[in-house]
Amino acid sequence: MKYDLIIFDMDGTLYKMENDPKREFFDNDFFRDIRKNCVDYISRLEGVDIEKAEQAMQSIIDEYQGEWSKGFIEKYGVDRKEYFSNTWNLDAEKFVGKNDNLRGILNSISCKKAVLTSAPEVWAENVLDRLNIRDVFDGVWFGDVDIRKPDKRAYIQVADALGVEIGNCLMVEDEERFLLPTKELGMDAVFIGKNKYADYNIQSIEDITGIVNEKIIIDTDPGHDDALALMLAAKSKELDIAAVTTVAGNSTIENTTRNARYILRLLDREDIPVYSGSERPLKRELVQAVVHGKSGLEGIDPTNEPKLNGRAVEEISNIAENNEDITLITLGPLTNIAKAIKQYPDAMKQVKEIVMMGGAVNVPGNKSKYAEFNIFVDPDAADIVFRFPVKKTLVPLDACNYVALQLDEFDELKGNRLYEPIIAMMKPYIKNIELDEGTKGALMYDPLTVFYLLQPETAKVEKYNLKVETKGEKAGKLMILEGNPNIDVVEYIPKNAFKMSFLEALK
Ligand code: BDR
Ligand code: CA
Repeated sequence: MKYDLIIFDMDGTLYKMENDPKREFFDNDFFRDIRKNCVDYISRLEGVDIEKAEQAMQSIIDEYQGEWSKGFIEKYGVDRKEYFSNTWNLDAEKFVGKNDNLRGILNSISCKKAVLTSAPEVWAENVLDRLNIRDVFDGVWFGDVDIRKPDKRAYIQVADALGVEIGNCLMVEDEERFLLPTKELGMDAVFIGKNKYADYNIQSIEDITGIVNEKIIIDTDPGHDDALALMLAAKSKELDIAAVTTVAGNSTIENTTRNARYILRLLDREDIPVYSGSERPLKRELVQAVVHGKSGLEGIDPTNEPKLNGRAVEEISNIAENNEDITLITLGPLTNIAKAIKQYPDAMKQVKEIVMMGGAVNVPGNKSKYAEFNIFVDPDAADIVFRFPVKKTLVPLDACNYVALQLDEFDELKGNRLYEPIIAMMKPYIKNIELDEGTKGALMYDPLTVFYLLQPETAKVEKYNLKVETKGEKAGKLMILEGNPNIDVVEYIPKNAFKMSFLEALK
């Protein structure tokens, strides 16, 4: 997530009034209902009949214009909260349309969420109930209190209460006067509509996911665990997959590209572009994996067209150049990424982070005594990537060896259209892993890497200075050096955290 907290305004932002009251201020049902409540309130306060109360209300309107609450406070000695709770308890059903998407959209945003509204509590609660989103928020701050928008302290109060830095917050607003203080506070701002001070302008709240979600490229060599990683990424709304690029690794480029397309079709996500890449490592012959079988996806062995277009390297750099915050997830040998770095270094420097499945840091390798498969296959490429000055995170065997799923752990997915293909894939994968590596269960290397991006807070991460051995029998080994760290290494992720989110996302 790009932000730690998103603060939403309510009226006009989370929903638009069915009959927009701002358009004909006061001359609409919304304010007619409030006015009626005000008259009843005066009648109760003063013990006068409705006709007298009506006259008193008219004089408040004449004297105080839009500031009715001020009139009540000064004339009748009530406080703001009392005034609002007596007059703004309106029927939300009358004014607020249902939006069945909204709850799902907000739930897909994984950082903290709050409402900071200038509306009084009684009305805000009615609206949030009507929209069925009250429990989605980590906190709601109302307008009938002393410290309220656009007072800067109101924004700071929300960030402080939820324990986040104000500079890591995003405000979503539809009124300029409430948006301006966010700029002074160093927050980012989204405007519903068009506003020159906002960092992003969107048409409606539905467009928010495109702004807050991580844009990623997945470079992959499916691969059984790559297939599961693609499923997890595609099913996680907080990730926005700009492209899938393929590389030879677990199997040939024909097979890995065919398999990637097969999985995206299974997911109904053929809208995601697939760019095929390198057919062999930079300086060596391709060594294919054993555990994924000849097709790379034994158990399914797809027969669809691979449709090789050879555009991976160029498109990775294009996307990096044209998007501010691209995260690259690599699940195979690093050949495509190394080529992109060599050919387009400036574009590649714009990548926000490279999160890689690969390597064995403090544990033995799985392809040789020293090396993990992805690094083993193309150590020269890995060397180039490890030296490149962008943020890098490694999810190596050290973390992955802890996380294997048994066949019956997929039972929860029964009835889901992914269940049968997953079981068909996992049976040979589990059998092959046991024969080849002696481990019982489907090792979750690549999906664990995607999971790290989704929930980094579950991981134990240490900084290392790592160098890739490129020569001799130790080729692919990661050597721990003294000096400034060049990479974050994920040492541990609890299996249960992964398993719960993974299965939930796939449902
Ligand atoms: C890595 O090698 C491949 O076989 C898997 O897909 C994973 O990316 C694990 O060493
Ligand atoms: Ca892989």
